[in-house]
Amino acid sequence: MSKQLIAANWKLNCTVEEALMLVTGVQAHLKTSPNVEVAVAPTFTSLYSVGIALADSNIRLAAQDIFWEDKGAYTGEISGPLLKDIGCEYVIIGHSERRKYFGETNESVNKKILAALRNVLVPIMCIGETLEEREKGLTFEVLEKQIKNGLITIQQKDLENFVVAYEPVWAIGTGKNASNEQIAEAHHFIRNYIAKLYDAPTANNIKILYGGSAKASNCKEIYAQKNVDGLLVGGASLDAKGFCDMIAQAPGQK
Ligand code: PGA
Repeated sequence: MSKQLIAANWKLNCTVEEALMLVTGVQAHLKTSPNVEVAVAPTFTSLYSVGIALADSNIRLAAQDIFWEDKGAYTGEISGPLLKDIGCEYVIIGHSERRKYFGETNESVNKKILAALRNVLVPIMCIGETLEEREKGLTFEVLEKQIKNGLITIQQKDLENFVVAYEPVWAIGTGKNASNEQIAEAHHFIRNYIAKLYDAPTANNIKILYGGSAKASNCKEIYAQKNVDGLLVGGASLDAKGFCDMIAQAPGQK
């Protein structure tokens, strides 16, 4: 069994003070284990302070986005070198909220993945179908396109340290998580498709997280599905105790 990754996506929540309270809470409740890696993704304004608070812990720092250029006249953007500078190790790329509200495309996702890799940040590439796409039977077609175009120009050796998050859009923030069968089917598809584009060892090495209304009461079943290597948690990660409860239930935890 591969090491699980459980990542908290705090989205647009928490002042610096609230973020520090939350991370202090997570540290207080967390029982770490070598089988599980934990990461938190605060807003850009809290990243630095949270990074300092985590300096002596094994909780990793993640950003919620990255720009594809490293520096220059790009007002409002945050680049790989800046994220690296404050201790980020992971970066979420192509979250469905960015695709929906900020015009993120598979092409921009690809450029951002290249920027992350260039700066030795581990990309967490988010993919997933909308409800309409699922109802039209287009789920696998959509996933295939997102993977293919997101990874275009990405070489096999760059996938040694790489995370994909399967997040069905209709399950995000809705309280309605995907069923066990839907999760198992999608994760199997993703692993197989990456094996086709590259090879099986490369595909097996990639962590595939599930995201979408994961919480303490349903995570055990999600972990039990084949090809699930962890979770990307939104709403439920804003409660330190609940989030740590999810970590405690991960496979391999004592
Ligand atoms: P949720 O969000 O857990 O609140 O559904 C997950 C995500 O958007 O990453």
